[in-house]
Amino acid sequence: MDNKPKLVIIVGSVREGRFGPAVASWVAEQADTHGAFDVTVVDLADYDLPLALPAASPKYAGDDYPRPAGMAELTAALDGADAFVVVTPEYNHSYPASLKAAIDWHFTQWTAKAVAFVSYGGAAGGRHAVLHLENVLTELHAVTIREGLAFPNYFTTWQDGLPLAPEAAGYAKTLLDQLAWWATALRSARHAAPFPA
Ligand SMILES: Cc1cc2nc3c(=O)[nH]c(=O)nc-3n(C[C@H](O)[C@H](O)[C@H](O)COP(=O)(O)O)c2cc1C
Repeated sequence: MDNKPKLVIIVGSVREGRFGPAVASWVAEQADTHGAFDVTVVDLADYDLPLALPAASPKYAGDDYPRPAGMAELTAALDGADAFVVVTPEYNHSYPASLKAAIDWHFTQWTAKAVAFVSYGGAAGGRHAVLHLENVLTELHAVTIREGLAFPNYFTTWQDGLPLAPEAAGYAKTLLDQLAWWATALRSARHAAPFPA
């Protein structure tokens, strides 16, 4: 039996002409090479993510939460994940509305699961977006990890879908080592007892 923790890599931007899929694809390659995870890439552009939410909160509605049919596969992927890498750009010193919608339509799917961030953008490399995501995901009882990867000025620091910095793969390995540790520890803890939320 394959007992590897399930890693879901989320492409956070859905903009026409976006760069996000290139970053997610490189992260997926690093994770495949790393070997600790069963890896899936989830692209938010593939799902129905309306901004208007139902009346009730997903925190209390559980499986009865009335999500659109076009979101079902996304919900299943988030449900089955033990860990996430959120790939995010920076929009106006925060993260894209597509990511906020994906987060807000769910709740238990994030709870007691490990989350790492890979960001990109201009001078700050998406760090403002990550600071906001850490704050929001903590509200959902996700465990955000310290190690992250930020790619400033990706338009000059990436070429042909790859980062030019030779140290990037080493940083990715450190991130994945720590994410795997947390994913395994939290999976055991979730199986041992329900999270007291
Ligand atoms: C609405 C919008 C706001 C942006 N704001 C910022 C910003 O605050 N900081 C930054 O570094 N880049 C900013 N950018 C530039 C993005 O980092 C760049 O367009 C990047 O390619 C966006 O990711 P995407 O291509 O995956 O959508 C912004 C881009 C858009 C479309």
